[in-house]
Parts: sequence; structure tokens; C-alpha cells
Amino acid sequence: MRASTFFSTALFAATVLAHGNITSPPARQPGPNMAKVCGSAAVSAILADGTGPLENIPSNGNPNCNIFMCKGAQFADNTAKVQTYAPGQVVPFKAVLPIPHEGPANVSIIDTASNTVVGLPLIEFASYADENLAVLPANNTAFKVAMPTNLNGACQVAGECTMQWFWFGTNAAQTYENCVDFVMTA
Ligand SMILES: *[C@@H]1O[C@H](CO)[C@@H](O)[C@H](O)[C@H]1NC(C)=O
Ligand SMILES: *[C@@H]1O[C@H](CO)[C@@H](O)[C@H](O)[C@H]1NC(C)=O
Ligand SMILES: *[C@@H]1O[C@H](CO)[C@@H](O)[C@H](O)[C@H]1NC(C)=O
Repeated sequence: MRASTFFSTALFAATVLAHGNITSPPARQPGPNMAKVCGSAAVSAILADGTGPLENIPSNGNPNCNIFMCKGAQFADNTAKVQTYAPGQVVPFKAVLPIPHEGPANVSIIDTASNTVVGLPLIEFASYADENLAVLPANNTAFKVAMPTNLNGACQVAGECTMQWFWFGTNAAQTYENCVDFVMTA
């Protein structure tokens, strides 16, 4: 009895890895445009576990499908979620980390056309979601970023930029992303 409980616990620990999701502001979700670009299997993987890692999402090989940008979620499926921010505005984030796994994390503005980072990361964690701590620091699940004041006209068109939460669970070797679409006011 005891041995079998131990065995199933060990099996659980070996198969379940890190998980997380940005719940606020509203992050990009999969939809019909993602199914067109990345295939329906990729959409199904996210619908099956919206907190799972990028490594669990199968790409269909379409060069226009980049699972490593916004989990492959497409702006066209998320136009109703675009947030509007002013330079210097402080934006509160909320995350759920049902299964933490220690590693670095950050939030950065991404130029979606080139998948490159715009400016400096808005927040950086050298060590995030450390499952060895009895309690995670409060800032792992509730943190704030200040919007840059030096974007010089960038990110004023919806879809041009997105704010990407990026977390890498080092031992699990798994990557987590969520994107918050936004426009900057002038
Ligand atoms: C993740 O958060 C988004 C809001 O950003 C929500 O729509 C979605 O249902 C959440 N999914 C899970 C599995 O927590
Ligand atoms: C954010 O963190 C990830 C994981 O460490 C890293 O690969 C990425 O380069 C970081 N982004 C920035 C803009 O520093
Ligand atoms: C998050 O909180 C921890 C514990 O208080 C602190 O050491 C760390 O510097 C904070 N990280 C950020 C990015 O604010």
C-alpha cells in the first residue's frame, strides 16, 4: 500500500512540470486565426492546458507560426483585448502559478513584426516561481510594470507591439509565455 502510494507520487512528480498563466491584464488566447496559422493541434494543446509550456504545443511547421512568440496566439483572434496605456502608466499584472518551477522571468515589449525586444525589460526576476520556497514571494503573482516614456511613437498602432511575460523553468527546461496586446497613447 505504502509502496504503491510512493510510486504513484513519484510518477506524478516526474510527469507534472511547471505551469502558469497571466490572468490580468487579459492575455492573448488561441482562436480560429491561430488554428489557420499554427494548426488545430496547437490550439487544442492550449485549450487542454492553458497554463502549459511552449514545449508541449506542436507547431505545424508553417514558417508563419512561431510558438515562441506569444505561444503562437495571433493578434487577429484578440483584437477585443487591446489595452490602452499612457507613457509612465503603472500597469498591475496578476499571474497564477499552479505548479511553480524555479528560473528567470521577465516582461518585455516585443515588436511583433520582427519578434525583437523594444527597449529594456519592464521587469526582471533573476529567480521566479521557486518551488523550494515554502511560500512564493507575493510579487511572483502580483507585480507592476511602468510603461516606458521613450518609445518615440512606437506601439501606437494595435498589433504592432505586445507585452510578453516570459518565464523559463530551468530544471524543467520549459518556457512559459503570455502576451498582453496594447497601444500607447501619444
Ligand atoms: C489564462 O488567463 C486568461 C486571461 O489572461 C484567461 O482568459 C484564461 O482562461 C486563463 N487560462 C487558464 C487555464 O488559467
Ligand atoms: C527574458 O528571460 C528569458 C529567460 O531567461 C530570456 O531568454 C530573455 O532573453 C529575457 N528577455 C530579455 C528582454 O531580457
Ligand atoms: C520580488 O520579491 C522578492 C522578495 O521580496 C525580492 O527579493 C525581489 O527582488 C522582488 N523582485 C522584483 C522583480 O521586484
